[in-house]
Amino acid sequence: MKKILVTGGNGQLGTELRLLARNSAAQWYFSDVVEREGVETILLDITNEEAVGQFVRDNEIDTIVNCAAYTNVEGAEDDFARCDLLNRVAPEILAGIARKAGALLIQISTDFIFDGTATTPIPEDAPAKPLSVYGKTKYAGELAVVASDCRYLIFRTAWLYSPFGKNFTKTMMKLTSEKERIKVVIDQVGTPTSALTLASLIFDVIENDKYRANGIYHITDEGVASWFDFAFAVGQICGNKCIVEPCMSDAFPQKATRPHFSVLDKAKVKADFGFTIPYWRDALQVCIDRIRSQE
Ligand SMILES: NC(=O)c1ccc[n+]([C@@H]2O[C@H](COP(=O)([O-])OP(=O)(O)OC[C@H]3O[C@@H](n4cnc5c(N)ncnc54)[C@H](OP(=O)(O)O)[C@@H]3O)[C@@H](O)[C@H]2O)c1
Repeated sequence: MKKILVTGGNGQLGTELRLLARNSAAQWYFSDVVEREGVETILLDITNEEAVGQFVRDNEIDTIVNCAAYTNVEGAEDDFARCDLLNRVAPEILAGIARKAGALLIQISTDFIFDGTATTPIPEDAPAKPLSVYGKTKYAGELAVVASDCRYLIFRTAWLYSPFGKNFTKTMMKLTSEKERIKVVIDQVGTPTSALTLASLIFDVIENDKYRANGIYHITDEGVASWFDFAFAVGQICGNKCIVEPCMSDAFPQKATRPHFSVLDKAKVKADFGFTIPYWRDALQVCIDRIRSQE
């Protein structure tokens, strides 16, 4: 029987995977650093090589899905050491453990490894040039995994949201229901992505033994949007009357420099895994319906 360890199991992606894994015959173990009420969590810190190594050996893990990361892009600018530990050192540790165990490591990376100067969807082999501490450490994590000689898949994704934790969709649901008018940036363009899409790909690859060779893949929902379009769609789907107005990034000065264009080319993931990707607005509708059904 397959034995899978998921780290960061209480985050957005980890929680979506946990829900999908209920329909699996494999043995899934969900770990995180902090317990969440009502959720069975194995406490494992991905920076603790000994503890993770022991767990992998004891439970004969054959696949590690690393959903844990330092994901606070703004906070990272003032917290390089912690961000580097979680986004570069920890994947290096997990890759070393995977190599020794002969396990497959699935590592998640980001569109923030690119500088945003592209004007057409970005393929996997485009040169990386991260602009922020978050982007730099995530890219260093990729390089560590690639250099480790383990079996790996790296999935680069973007603009993740879900019914769980804090994210742009949930913030905009609240703001567009409370405010008369909001401004949202229109000069950063990418693709809003439901964590369910990425979780479904990971689940499909594991359940159906689709790993053939090491590789890096781009996976977001389909289509293109600015943060303004994303916020507008949230307000519209929710039927909120708030007026959403476009503005430029300099209206909201931030510490971390973000790419202006980070639409990812997904031809490779579709060709190699036969994966069907939803259009971003359809995936957003599904997520909002799920959030509302919980209320
Ligand atoms: N969110 C996005 O927009 C986005 C975009 C592109 C790529 N990604 C990547 O996608 C992946 C999943 O993102 P996400 O949004 O699901 O992240 P998330 O919701 O922030 O979840 C990350 C989880 O990792 C946990 N964690 C933190 N430190 C840990 C440690 N030392 N050991 C074990 N677990 C630890 C966190 O716990 P605490 O909450 O207690 O810290 C949290 O439960 C990440 O690799 C991220 O870089 C995300």
